[in-house]
Amino acid sequence: MSVTLYENARLNGAAELTAIAVSDGRFLKFGKAQDLEHEFPDAKREDLGGNVVCPPFADAHIHLDYVYTASLPTHETSSGTLFEAIDNWSDSKAKLSADAIRSRALKAVKMQISHGVQYVRTHVDVTDPKFTALKVMLELKEQLKPYMQIQIVAFPQEGYYAYKGGDELVEEALKMGADVVGGIPHFEFTREDGVRSVKKGFELAEKYDKLLDFHCDETDDDQSRFVESICAMTYYDGLQGRTAASHTCAMGSYNNAYAFKMMSKFKKAQLNFIVCPTENCYLQGRYDSYPRRRGISRVDELDQNGLNVSFAQDSISDPWYPLGNGNLMHQLDFGLHLSHMMSVEQISNSLRFVTTNGAKTMCVGDYGFKEGNSANFVVLDADNVFDAVRNTASTILSVRNGEVIMRKQPEKVLTEYGF
Ligand code: FE2
Repeated sequence: MSVTLYENARLNGAAELTAIAVSDGRFLKFGKAQDLEHEFPDAKREDLGGNVVCPPFADAHIHLDYVYTASLPTHETSSGTLFEAIDNWSDSKAKLSADAIRSRALKAVKMQISHGVQYVRTHVDVTDPKFTALKVMLELKEQLKPYMQIQIVAFPQEGYYAYKGGDELVEEALKMGADVVGGIPHFEFTREDGVRSVKKGFELAEKYDKLLDFHCDETDDDQSRFVESICAMTYYDGLQGRTAASHTCAMGSYNNAYAFKMMSKFKKAQLNFIVCPTENCYLQGRYDSYPRRRGISRVDELDQNGLNVSFAQDSISDPWYPLGNGNLMHQLDFGLHLSHMMSVEQISNSLRFVTTNGAKTMCVGDYGFKEGNSANFVVLDADNVFDAVRNTASTILSVRNGEVIMRKQPEKVLTEYGF
């Protein structure tokens, strides 16, 4: 039996150092270095240097079919609003070739891997009768399995009903192999159509045994309340833990009485929440003068109520957001600031927003430090979680199924200062 011993690992930032024995792509044993060295004398050894070791980053919300399209002439945006970006995308998407989508997505995936991401849920626009992007993403999902687990959301960017036949395209995408039912109820023409689209999504999820993840209330309009429909249907259909509400920006504008009522309902439905800090603080608040809203959901209250919240990238240089590089430590930094979650304890306990919580939303089994699980983990260039967050520490090693898939030199200043 071939064993690799990873020594001096600070698992999830713990004070004590641990050794990890890996064999056949799986975690074999965790323990003290001297014990495991004795048990596995022939093991290959790697010193992790007392750095923080955590489960891989999980990006539960991105659009890999949109990446690096921000600079296309038709995507120049002047208002910085969500709805202008959707219109710009609609005008140009038919011109994008499969080759262009593939090469851009691969460039983004390489960036994600370099930042320790191994789990990705990508929404793919299926309001395209040719399914150009979906076919590419289905191919990449298989091709990239050694590097990351990809979930594909059948996402009708232009709506189930606002786009004629959108509902049928979502169903066809699920038949082709998409893993998750998507939707965008706040983009439909009417409140009634939005609710109808959510109902249709749940019908399809039941018919094809899929997870659900809706773009939900991505607006500052405090009357946008599709989250209650998603929550109710999750509860009625007994789909606790299998449904996610992405964005829920309007929750930042709800009155406290309504938000308080909904917290208890969310708990009953075990609804997962995905928040995209940089994108939504850029896109929202665009109709405000001052005071100007932050554009993100009630992360602190959701978290205090025990609900599962993760931070995600959403965009890498697309019509919705010009920046983005797949580094979830950056999202964590923004998310904590925008959510007022900055106590030492909150910061020291925050890696879960970009690791465990995202994996839980994706219903990933076989995740985390447990003997028998796939040996998937990353090493951060920091010896405690607080400093990792403070410095937005780099991922210096990413191991998947026991194999090193990415290694990076730790940052080192070469200048000699005179003091
Ligand atoms: Fe999105």
